[in-house]
Amino acid sequence: MAHSLFRTKNVEQSISDTEEPEHALKKSLSALDLTVFGVGVVIGTGIFVLTGQVARENAGPAVSLAFVVAGVVCALAALCYAEFASSVPVAGSAYTFSYASLGELPAWIIGWDLVLELALGTAVVAVGWSGYIRSLLENAGWHLPAALSGRDGAEGFGFDVFAAGLVLVITAVLVVGMKLSARVTSIVVAVKVAVVLIVIVAGAFFVKADHYDPFVPPSEPQEAGGSLTAPLVQLLFGWAPSNFGVMGVFTAASVVFFAFIGFDIVATAAEETRNPQRDLPRGILGSLAICTVLYVAVSIVVTGMQKYSELSVEAPLADAFKATGHPFFAGVISFGAAVGLTTVCMILLLGQTRVFFAMSRDGLLPRFFSHVHPKYRTPHRPTVLLGVVIAVVAGFTSLSELAELVNIGTLFAFVVVAVSVVILRRTRPDLPRAFRTPLVPLVPALSVLASLWLMLNLPAETWLRFAIWMAIGFAVYFLYGRKHSRLAHGRAAAEGSTTRSDLTK
Ligand code: ALA
Repeated sequence: MAHSLFRTKNVEQSISDTEEPEHALKKSLSALDLTVFGVGVVIGTGIFVLTGQVARENAGPAVSLAFVVAGVVCALAALCYAEFASSVPVAGSAYTFSYASLGELPAWIIGWDLVLELALGTAVVAVGWSGYIRSLLENAGWHLPAALSGRDGAEGFGFDVFAAGLVLVITAVLVVGMKLSARVTSIVVAVKVAVVLIVIVAGAFFVKADHYDPFVPPSEPQEAGGSLTAPLVQLLFGWAPSNFGVMGVFTAASVVFFAFIGFDIVATAAEETRNPQRDLPRGILGSLAICTVLYVAVSIVVTGMQKYSELSVEAPLADAFKATGHPFFAGVISFGAAVGLTTVCMILLLGQTRVFFAMSRDGLLPRFFSHVHPKYRTPHRPTVLLGVVIAVVAGFTSLSELAELVNIGTLFAFVVVAVSVVILRRTRPDLPRAFRTPLVPLVPALSVLASLWLMLNLPAETWLRFAIWMAIGFAVYFLYGRKHSRLAHGRAAAEGSTTRSDLTK
């Protein structure tokens, strides 16, 4: 039994099964390419929306410190992730790497976790996008009824019609296999960064020093009865649950961590990097550093433009300009944010359907989902199924609850990856490693502790939801995946496989 749980796909098999083998061997990316790609995937709802929410509810102007804390946690994780991603010469996601190195059960856990990260991440970005579209419409004098504007702030029924609509449109785009060209992607990245710079530079003129007082608002007790919404760490140590104060900065960090999600995708480009040992850390840490600097600057400016308690929770960057009487800037920012968020949403949804597809191709999920559309050559079944589910979730759930669940899932994956780096150094010293994490086991140990610390600062109810998700995952694996795994049937290599070149291109 134990043996079968840790059965691994061999590397050749992984390469033949995995996506774009020809691409995986082409070492063309430089540190600069990786940095641009990283910034493109990473900047999204985290900075555009969550900044306002956490400043208002958890940290006040000290939200900027929360971005620094989250950035450090990510930098540690990135160093481990890069070794993990480059220790198996296959392209693909953490799911693929772990199947070839750690075994089936750990791969299943990571894959199931990635589904949560990417699917709900898509929903979060869609909800953020919808806030900016509404802000743009309001500029033009249009107001959407509250019942169609989403859960946050709605009394009674609330459905976010724009968020659900965006997910459905992107689903259709992915089904027909349309892809953004490199040129369009770089234009979108430029627009997004330009908008962030406009906020920083133009906004700096409207900052009032009073708004920074107090910079770290004093801790306030949470309303009674809210114990499940309190960070787990406060409950574990028997502290009275509170918002703001120093602990509020950590609570905020555990939420704005969402703003950094996506850099792990950069780590997966190890095999396509010209000089991974040098360029991968430069690319990953470079994009993380750029994003951290931009995030800190934006949050300092925005909390200086408006008192933190008055920031908007839907489109804080644009609304801060409206509040200071500059609707023109607000319009430009909303437009740029909407453009930028569309592509983040698309990348996350695409990644999500790919992981699901790979898991089904390996037999861990029903093979029904690995059927490729005869005309479009895309994995249309998981795309449609997940697209519809995500659209409903995006319509009906509150943004912060979703983001917290995505964060706990991602942080958990970071813990697994950091531990795996140390284990694999012992068990598989033979594996080629294009990039080696420095100071093993110190850096992985610090990464585990830092990720766990942020996890503990998430609400108890998030832990509960995550536990339920993982329990479902275990049930699916033991009732279905373990028996149907292609590896279990020893047919994987013989059956041949569908490569990504058959899919969307
Ligand atoms: N980091 C991305 C965002 O903030 C997912 O939207």
